[in-house]
Order: sequence, then structure tokens, then C-alpha cells
Amino acid sequence: MSLLAGKTGLIFGVANDRSYAFHIAEALAKNGATCAFTCLPGEKNERRTRKAMEKLELGDAWLAPCDASKDEDIDAVFDAFTQKHERLDFLIHSIAFADREWLAPGKFTDTPRASYLSAIDISAYTLAAMAKRAREPMSASGGGSILAMSYYGSEKVVPGYNVMGVAKAALECTTRYLAAELGERNIRVNTISGGPLRTLASSAVGGIDTMLEHTPVRAPLKRNVEGSDVGGVAAFLVSDLASGVTGENIYVDCGVNTIGI
Ligand SMILES: NC(=O)c1ccc[n+]([C@@H]2O[C@H](COP(=O)([O-])OP(=O)(O)OC[C@H]3O[C@@H](n4cnc5c(N)ncnc54)[C@H](O)[C@@H]3O)[C@@H](O)[C@H]2O)c1
Repeated sequence: MSLLAGKTGLIFGVANDRSYAFHIAEALAKNGATCAFTCLPGEKNERRTRKAMEKLELGDAWLAPCDASKDEDIDAVFDAFTQKHERLDFLIHSIAFADREWLAPGKFTDTPRASYLSAIDISAYTLAAMAKRAREPMSASGGGSILAMSYYGSEKVVPGYNVMGVAKAALECTTRYLAAELGERNIRVNTISGGPLRTLASSAVGGIDTMLEHTPVRAPLKRNVEGSDVGGVAAFLVSDLASGVTGENIYVDCGVNTIGI
């Protein structure tokens, strides 16, 4: 039997076929999971996400618009999802946002209050907002797995990552507090710390070229990460093989985080 047979979940963050969420969906579906999706509201966003979904060949997979900065949108997505699906076994949070202007080397000190707060709101608070709505349907399914995407810039200074590093630190900490509170319901909450990958979001990070050049030189595996590397670990974390893993941050970065100098 497939690893994820019988599991159903909701995936936030497929913008196109380069998105980390796309690679995660591909791995989950390949292992037998039923995947439903959200995209940013707007015709262009929906068209782009649908095009990526077609590549996944999932038939008529469920898709709903959601701007995660709005509580009413998150409410509407979870209401609509639970009306259409009998269970919720996993939730993938693969979304982030920060004003591009402040994601350049040397720009952190000037980050305005509004840009700082919106980065934390959309990239970190939304995980708690979604976990709150997932709690009851996951409990009714006997538990579940919540997974979010982070990056090493949460722990160490990576030039250009700036306020997104602050938001990722908040995301990883939010994961631990959620894991502590939701564990008694058999809901596990983890992050994957992924290596640099060329996507729409990462193109806004001023230091992305340096990150991509740096990894194959310094990482133990001597290469950059591929989306499928993250997809495989996501499938493991969603599966019952990871039944004892919660509150963790798992690196999928070809080992670059382990190298000091
Ligand atoms: N690409 C990398 O190098 C890298 C490395 C480590 C972690 N990550 C993380 O992976 C996750 C996915 O990013 P990606 O690189 O696949 O880029 P991406 O651009 O493909 O995905 C980002 C997603 O965030 C969504 N989003 C932005 N604002 C939103 C909002 N208000 N409401 C709902 N959705 C919103 C976008 O629609 C998009 O689908 C992010 O959390 C990112 O920080 C990326």
C-alpha cells in the first residue's frame, strides 16, 4: 500500500511548477495522498496555479482562493474545504512575503515598521492562524501533520535575507509552541529548512545568486538542493513513519548548515 494512501490535505503556496509547494504536492500525490490547493486571489494567480496543478495530473483537484493576510479568507477556505472533504490529515504552509525593497544586502537597518510587520504577519503568523482552523478537522481525523517551509537565514545572518530571516525565526518558534499545544491531539507540527531554490519568492531576495553559488562549493553533497529533495522529506513528515517527530526543524540543504567555515 502507498505510504500516504487515505490521507487528505490542504496545500498553500503553489504559484507555479517551480514552487516548493509544487514539489511537495508531487511527492505527496506520488505516495497516494489526496491534495487540495489554495492560491492568491485574482484571475492571473488562479490561472498560474491551475497550470501547475495540470502538470501534477491530479484530475479535478480542489482549488480555492485565499489571501492569508485576511482572517476572513482563511475562515472561508477551511469552511469550504471541510464541507467538501471528510478528513484533514495534513496542512502544508509554503507561503512567505516581504517587500522586495528591503531584501538587499545593507538594507535591514532601514526596514520600515509596516514592512517588518507584514513580513512576520504573512510569513509566520499565518501558520498559527491556519493551525487554529485545522485543529478541529484534524482532531476528528485522529490527528495530523502540519508542515511549514523555513530557511537557515532564521539562525545566521545571510546578506540580503534580512527581515525574512526575522520572519523565519518567528515561524520556527511558532512551530514549537504549536507542537507543544497540539500534541495531545496527535497533531504534529514541523518545519523543513530548505536550501536555496530559484522560485518567484526567492527572486525577490537580493542575495539569492550568492546563496546558489555558495552551496555547491561548501555543502557536503557538493550541489544545490532540488525540489524533489524537499518533497521526499515532506512525504516522510506527513506519513506515519514520522509519528514521533514534532516541533522539529529538519534541514534539507545538502548539509550546508553543518559547515562552520
Ligand atoms: N526558494 C527558496 O530558496 C526557499 C528556501 C527556503 C525556504 N523557502 C520558503 O518556501 C516557501 C515557498 O516559497 P517558494 O520559494 O516556493 O516561492 P513561491 O513564490 O513559489 O511561493 C511563495 C508562495 O507564497 C504565496 N503567498 C504570498 N503572499 C501570500 C498571501 N498573502 N496569502 C497567501 N499566499 C501568499 C504566493 O502566492 C506563492 O504561492 C516560502 O515560505 C519560502 O520562504 C524558499
